[in-house]
Amino acid sequence: MHQDVSLIALIAWGFVLAGVFGYAADRLHLPALVGYLLAGVFIGPLTPGFVGDMDLAGQLAEIGVILLMFGVGLHFSAPDLLAVRRIAIPGAIGQIVLATLVGMAVAWFWGWGIGGGLVFGLSISVASTVVLLKELEERNLVLTRIGRVAVGWLIVEDLAMVLALVMLPTLATTLGGQVPGAEHGAEPADLASMALVVAITLAKVVAFTLLAMLVGPRVVPWVLIQAARTGSRELFTLAVLAIAMGIAFGASSAFGVSFALGAFFAGVIMSESQLSHRAAENSLPLQNAFSVLFFVSIGMLFDPWVLVQHPLEVLTTVLLIVVGKYLIGVAVVLLLRYPVDMALRVGASLSQIGEFSFILAGLGVALGLMPADGRDYILAGSILSIVLNRPVFAFSDRLQKWVHARWPVASARFGKARLSQLADELDRVKSSADARARDEQQRVTELIGKFPLLERLDEDAQEELLLLFRPSSASPGQRVIRAGERGDSMHFIASGSVEVAVKNGVVRLEAGSFFGEMALLTGERRSADVTAVDFCQFQTLTRRDFNQFMRRHPELRAAVTGLANERRAANLPDGQPDLA
Ligand code: CMP
Repeated sequence: MHQDVSLIALIAWGFVLAGVFGYAADRLHLPALVGYLLAGVFIGPLTPGFVGDMDLAGQLAEIGVILLMFGVGLHFSAPDLLAVRRIAIPGAIGQIVLATLVGMAVAWFWGWGIGGGLVFGLSISVASTVVLLKELEERNLVLTRIGRVAVGWLIVEDLAMVLALVMLPTLATTLGGQVPGAEHGAEPADLASMALVVAITLAKVVAFTLLAMLVGPRVVPWVLIQAARTGSRELFTLAVLAIAMGIAFGASSAFGVSFALGAFFAGVIMSESQLSHRAAENSLPLQNAFSVLFFVSIGMLFDPWVLVQHPLEVLTTVLLIVVGKYLIGVAVVLLLRYPVDMALRVGASLSQIGEFSFILAGLGVALGLMPADGRDYILAGSILSIVLNRPVFAFSDRLQKWVHARWPVASARFGKARLSQLADELDRVKSSADARARDEQQRVTELIGKFPLLERLDEDAQEELLLLFRPSSASPGQRVIRAGERGDSMHFIASGSVEVAVKNGVVRLEAGSFFGEMALLTGERRSADVTAVDFCQFQTLTRRDFNQFMRRHPELRAAVTGLANERRAANLPDGQPDLA
């Protein structure tokens, strides 16, 4: 039997080698991702032994980016993004322009045309989200001010790259390249058609954002609740992944937005749901696995020969990324009058390149704008800058200390005004998010506290049950249950009280108690009339939800059955066999 197992082989080799090299790197006090990259080089086409399928590797890497960006989105809210706009938007744009210009100057020196220079410059101007996030995570910085600024900055960069990717083919002929498949000597694009392309692209991004922000918050939390109500972990995880991958893919096919950006929005939308923490927990393992494959796939693309054949070019590229971009990042943040600490950290965060750079460089080569060597420099530059990123961070931390020691007053004072403005905005966002989380928590505790029966459930089960509860109410004198009818629900009394008409009088049930369980347990008709005594609020479980939940939580079933048996015994003093 012959089967194509290239995907399985790639994943197996990828995981095994990444595991081995990652462990070795960790023992050598190097970041584990250095090991992952090395694993990639080993299964790449340029080293002997197993050779992985490059296309598949690229797609696996893309899944890594999608899941990662989705995870970032889950920790972000729209107000978070707005809070950092004053630094992220001008900062990212300024940094892209400067880095691109420096890159173009270097490329001009190498004798490349304007088009080649532009592609090279853009490729080095955009940092890798995956690398940045790994580094921020490692340093526990994701949720700090610096982390928020850096992520906001990257979102702006991503948007700019989306624009660059769609514009390059239009501009290719003007810039001295050619569109593959087009007639020789295709007309250079005029200003009007370029403006049109930009306008259409921006309109698509805006349309996607509006759709995501208007429709998403209505649909996504609802889907999650439905999935959580089933009580099946599998279905819940599936819903989370379906939303992440579905939105990312849909965004890119329908709106031309990058997968990464689509996934980020999926995460932002989901972060509004009360179940977002469970979504984050559920998607984390996959996110980790695929981000490893991301680094493996970069390693696979790498051709070590370029280090021997073009050492100077590679060195220049690395210097541009590691030193040039660092300085540019620092300068831009300082020019925007934010403090030195933030400038140094943002600079360090951005002094590496990754996924977008490869895509841009690949496109540049395909359009005949950049020599194929350029892509190799970018790749080598990327790998080396990723490896160097941690030392750059460490250097940056030292520099920070040195600056504070050298200019204690100036460094403490510089940028204070802007920082406190940013801090205020972020604090406001955080405190309103905290307040919401607290309210939610309080609602849960209060509700659970009302029903002593539920205290025996663990926290997850309590949360699950609350999702199944449907609030209902009754006015004084209203018959809630009629003896002899079929039972389709059970009620927990949240406030008020009811009377159960039993043979020898009435039994009063107060808030915290429940009724209507007998018919659901036995399938028999209602055993008594139940009437509201005053204004009552109930949390009601439908028969279907009751059955499912009780099946999963036998301890609760036993408790409810126990009480139902007592009630039954009290109603029928001549004795009847117990309920099942
Ligand atoms: P069910 O038979 O579904 O509908 C009527 C409900 O009244 C019944 O479930 C019990 O929840 C409740 N009930 C019946 N008998 C008693 C009792 N002796 N004490 C308290 N509640 C009762």
